[in-house]
Amino acid sequence: MSMRIAIVRNGKELGERAFLEIKKVLAAKRDAVIGFATGNTPIPLYEKMADDHKKNGTSYKRVRAFNLDEYVGVDPNDKASFARFMRDNLFSKIDIDPANTDIPNGMADDLSAECERYAAAVKKHPADIQILGIGENGHIAFNEPYTKPEEPTHIALLTESTRAANAGAFKDPSLVPQYALTMGINEILTAKRILMLATGEKKAQAVYDMIMGRDDTSCPATALRRHPDVTVILDKEAAALLTFGEWEREAERRAAEEAADAAEAEIKDEEAEDAEK
Ligand code: PGA
Repeated sequence: MSMRIAIVRNGKELGERAFLEIKKVLAAKRDAVIGFATGNTPIPLYEKMADDHKKNGTSYKRVRAFNLDEYVGVDPNDKASFARFMRDNLFSKIDIDPANTDIPNGMADDLSAECERYAAAVKKHPADIQILGIGENGHIAFNEPYTKPEEPTHIALLTESTRAANAGAFKDPSLVPQYALTMGINEILTAKRILMLATGEKKAQAVYDMIMGRDDTSCPATALRRHPDVTVILDKEAAALLTFGEWEREAERRAAEEAADAAEAEIKDEEAEDAEK
């Protein structure tokens, strides 16, 4: 596991710290592919990007953007849609070419065909960096607990807790769609780098589960443990359950377990060799 964890004091610091990761990618590659996320958490990052573009002229002209997910049945011009969220919060404030931005089309007549189209587009242009949030139930994108990681972009049934958490953008909680199109877990992991952001005490349990909990699909975010380059940026509230002494002990325990497994595998190899002789 190679997760770097940074704990910041407030939204402004989160935006600045997260922007460093974006800047690093852009400095190395002007035509980087960036995977974007919607939700309240990345807003300070998008504000920082817009502000930096205005002040320093950082250009996104050659950047290609993908988004993780979109509601089924919500028009891209509707304020509740993720397409509109991206335009309002970021794309209209930087010089990205709208033709280079892609998001699943939740209004498509044939949603399965749209999932296939999106999966192919993402495969063709793997993200240099993927921005991610986490749900209170540990979801990443709309991959709710127990989603199979190997499922590519698919139609997801949203849990009641996710619909409740996202109700703010809708006039009435009952109007939150039941379904969304979402990139799959292993597709998300194809990004070269992952930037996971979480803020607020409501995320503390999910953050704990992602880093220290049981490694299974009950917390989809545990999949990030299988990615070689993850930066996690948390505020104190989201990090509240991570006791670092305990975290280090856990890391040590895992390292010891891995060493034991490796030793066992070596013994087995030797036994097999001896048997051959
Ligand atoms: P939030 O959403 O940033 O609005 O909390 C994150 C998520 O559900 O993935």
